[in-house]
This record gives sequence, C-alpha cells and structure tokens, in this order.
Amino acid sequence: MKTTTADFAAMKKRGEKISMLTAYDYSTAKLINGAGVNSVLVGDSLGMVMLGYEDTISVTMEDMIHHSSAVARGAKDALIICDMPFMSYQTSVYDAVKNAGRLMQEGRAQAVKLEGGVKIKEHIKAITSASIPVCGHIGMTPQSINAFGGFRVQGKTLAAARRIIDDALAVEQAGAFAVVLECVPSALAEYISKLLAIPTIGIGAGAGCDGQVLVYQDMLGMYSDLTPKFVKKFASVGEVMTAAFKAYDNEVKSGAFPLEENSFSIDEGIMNELMIMDGGSL
Ligand code: KIV
Repeated sequence: MKTTTADFAAMKKRGEKISMLTAYDYSTAKLINGAGVNSVLVGDSLGMVMLGYEDTISVTMEDMIHHSSAVARGAKDALIICDMPFMSYQTSVYDAVKNAGRLMQEGRAQAVKLEGGVKIKEHIKAITSASIPVCGHIGMTPQSINAFGGFRVQGKTLAAARRIIDDALAVEQAGAFAVVLECVPSALAEYISKLLAIPTIGIGAGAGCDGQVLVYQDMLGMYSDLTPKFVKKFASVGEVMTAAFKAYDNEVKSGAFPLEENSFSIDEGIMNELMIMDGGSL
C-alpha cells in the first residue's frame, strides 16, 4: 500500500515515528521499499554521494528527474519525495511551480522538497495550490552552504533559534505536509515538533522529531568523504564491497573466474566444423 502524505499526518497524531532514507536508483529504492521504510527521499545529496561534487550546488533538474524516475520504478509503497535543486525555485514563484510540476510528471515523485522558510513561503503556497505536496527543509540547508560558510549547526543563539521557529511556522502556514529539520540542537527540534501540527523529519536534530532521515550511503558506511556527527553506521557495506571487488580482481587475474558453471556450452561438432571452415585448428 502506497504511503501518502495523509499517512504522515496520521502517524504524527498516533505518535508513530516516520522513517525516511535517501535513494537515487532503482535497485536501492527497491531494497529500501522492501524493508518497510515509509518514505524515500531523492535528495540533491546525489550530487555528492553519486556524482562526486563537493556540495549540492551543481545538481540540475535533469539530474533530479533522471534519478527520481528510477527510484519511482523501484519504490512502489514508500512515499517518494524529490528535492528541488539549487536555482530551480529561488528565481521566481513561476519557476518553482513549473519545476515542481516537472519533478512530478517526468520524475514521477509524489512530493517535492524545498530549502528555506519565511523567504520561500509564497513559493510553497503556489506549489501546494497546484496540488503538489511540499516538504519543507529548514535549519542547515545545504544549498545555502556558501552563505553559511560551511556545513554548521544552526539555531544555537536566541536570534538564530527564533528565526528557525519562524521558518518552521512559515512552512506549515504555507501548506507543507512535513518539514525536514537539519543540524539543529535537539531541544529546539523537539520544541518545534511540539509546536507544529505537521510532522518534523530530523537529520542531526535529535530524537524529539516525528521522524528521521539519513543518506543511505552514510548509514551503510559507503561514503567516507564527509562523516557528520549525526550519522550512525548501521553496516560496513563499503568494506564488504571493497573485499568483493578485490576477490573478483584476484580471480580474473588468476583465471579462477569464470568457472564452467558461469559459462555457456556449444555442440562440439559445430566447433569442429567451424575450425574446418577456417582451415585447421587454433
Ligand atoms: O539531499 C538530501 O539528501 C537531503 C537530506 C540530507 C535531508 O536533503
């Protein structure tokens, strides 16, 4: 059964935690979906973990559509949320609606996510008016890395905490069905989670949020370029992959792979005829 934005609201009401993981391809989305995770986020973090950029700034609409449509083919039950990339919505309300529509039509997402609060209230309002569900994203918003001067915890001073609360309220008032809180102090995130009627999804925001999201390569131990404090490694898949790649390399070089069982046969008579045609044996 497909998880919907209404299910998110019902889960918050029942006090049930919401699980979300990122995915960027068909096979991983299928595995995450099969594990029963409620939602898959096609994050613009794909710029870093899939494409090797140092931040998310270079990610394009075409990148997001390409990955989102693959995820949509794999995650049949989880709610698919697709990130709006840098400069696909900040430029105007018109661009925001137009590009959100492309992520739904071409990327087959069921919701979009935008970074920002008070400043993009009108954009969120217009997108939701077009019947496109919106998930907000406030606190440490990676598309603003150059304005923040790095990936830093946000909301530690009274003024900064106040701004994050105002952003949370703005996102909710604009019609978002959920909001991601990234890298904010746990007590502040818990306070916001109690203040809002819509669910909060935390990443580096403590246990008081209504749900949690992680980048799957981080939680599987597959990405080592940057390891934020909030990441818990649930497996060492990177080590397992490296060991398997090494074993393959050794077996190809030693001739141990492929075996008979990995190969296809042909009638010996046909091989003999081929050799006669070619004038002898090899
Ligand atoms: O792009 C992403 O993966 C995200 C999560 C970190 C919330 O926005």
